[in-house]
Amino acid sequence: MRHFLNLTDAGADGIAAMLADALDRKAARAGFPKGRADSDAPLAGHTLAMIFEKNSTRTRFSFDMAIRQLGGTSIVAESGSMQLGRGESIADTARVLSSYIDAIMIRTDDHAKVEEMAHYASVPVINGLTDASHPCQIMADLLTILESGKALPGLKVAWLGDGNNVLASIVEAAGLMQFDVVAACPQGFQPEEEAIVRASGRARVVSDPREAVEGADIVVTDTWISMGQANAETKLKALTPYQVTSALMADAKPDAKFLHCLPAHRGEEVSTEVIDGPQSLIWAEAENRLHAQKSVLRWCFGQIG
Ligand code: CP
Ligand code: NVA
Repeated sequence: MRHFLNLTDAGADGIAAMLADALDRKAARAGFPKGRADSDAPLAGHTLAMIFEKNSTRTRFSFDMAIRQLGGTSIVAESGSMQLGRGESIADTARVLSSYIDAIMIRTDDHAKVEEMAHYASVPVINGLTDASHPCQIMADLLTILESGKALPGLKVAWLGDGNNVLASIVEAAGLMQFDVVAACPQGFQPEEEAIVRASGRARVVSDPREAVEGADIVVTDTWISMGQANAETKLKALTPYQVTSALMADAKPDAKFLHCLPAHRGEEVSTEVIDGPQSLIWAEAENRLHAQKSVLRWCFGQIG
């Protein structure tokens, strides 16, 4: 049984296989209408259940189109409309859904919930974001970096802002795929030490944004207030010096690229000039959620890696 709760579940070889598969499949269906299945329809007859305990645009639509393009179908539900929202346990939900469908993608708050789902499900479980990590997003980010012509080993990635779930998965990827991350985060909003340790020496945290971006190949940020967090004035104030601006981008390599998982808050974590400027890859990154998620699904079903 292959669950995709964190990038480590796939390991370096699995990630490399998924990225190669995503590049191939994206090229193979160039020009197809988006609703047409891939020629080989490798997941024909399979149904993906998607459960959302938090809002989503990209994860919801990209996974739904991903399973359709692979020849399968989906069922989407907000947990609030399920008995899960009235206190039915994750364990019982996992057991019941496993008897109807072929895989479960869940977006929730506490990471322990996806672990519990995986423990009790007899089908693959995919983490569609928890408070602790967002591995599906980072698969799309790695794909976007490769498409920009940069190799992963030896890459320098700068993170600016909140030490959140997206950063935790970037750091995890760094340890697996042999690139370096320097995260500039203010005191009180730094990532968990545990997340940095998982990067096996490939990640460090600094307080000076300039130190992080200096010589960077990729500059990444994310919203300062993640879903489920209070919109605290003190947090916004602490993060203000970490906005990705043109001045900061000028300290990165001349061919540096900017990534953001979206949704973005222009004028908070990133200036309009940067996110809508020539170095920004955000639209390719968002599109790549679809291509990356198809390969995650195929990996979960043992078709690759
Ligand atoms: N980046 C991302 O996960 O977007 P959604 O919250 O819209 O799914
Ligand atoms: N860190 C953000 C990512 C949204 C895709 C959040 O958890 O809300």
